[in-house]
Amino acid sequence: MTDSTIWTEKYRPQTFEDIKGQKKIVERIKAFVDQRNMPHILLAGPAGVGKSTIALVIAKELFKETWKNNFLELNASDDRGIDVVRNTIKEFAKTRALGNVPFKIIFLDECDSLTKEAQQALRRTMENFVTSTRFVLSCNYSSKIIDPIQSRCTVFRFKPLTKEDIEDYVMKIATTENLNVILAMVMLEK
Ligand SMILES: Nc1ncnc2c1ncn2[C@@H]1O[C@H](COP(=O)(O)OP(=O)(O)O)[C@@H](O)[C@H]1O
Ligand SMILES: [Mg+2]
Repeated sequence: MTDSTIWTEKYRPQTFEDIKGQKKIVERIKAFVDQRNMPHILLAGPAGVGKSTIALVIAKELFKETWKNNFLELNASDDRGIDVVRNTIKEFAKTRALGNVPFKIIFLDECDSLTKEAQQALRRTMENFVTSTRFVLSCNYSSKIIDPIQSRCTVFRFKPLTKEDIEDYVMKIATTENLNVILAMVMLEK
């Protein structure tokens, strides 16, 4: 990793143990990974609380070195439209997972930006590919996700990180980067 890597990536947790807060969620999701079996998952909560991070950790822990082949990340609000998203999903889902996990993972970010019609189409796609894929969906507000999708997913509601967790995290970065720690703490107070 180069020095110019942005810190959100450089310090993104790589394992379940590194994720701050969200203890119950981490515990349950880790159990799915240990069993090599999981339902579709809906991650709901505000920005910057670990939703994308946990989706990546699931893939890394499940598939290890082949995770990039078995994990597809898409943004539901892709400018090119939901048809592009759907076609990409179909292409990815039609081949079997590599390795000893019987499914691939599709991480679809910002699902609450999808119209109700697009969500209906997504629901059908989820059904069509359920034997070969599991979906990890992420949204800010689960209330914006249609019931038929919610009922097909195990829903996890993320909480904002506590001030202590954020302080821990900032201190760790400050130490590693040789930053003035006092400055970092003052900025947090604002
Ligand atoms: N629970 C957490 N524990 C540790 N770092 C976190 C956590 N949540 C967010 N971060 C930090 O913030 C960055 C953005 O988090 P991300 O998972 O992308 O948030 P979002 O919930 O918006 O998907 C991560 O790369 C990581 O550096
Ligand atoms: Mg995210």
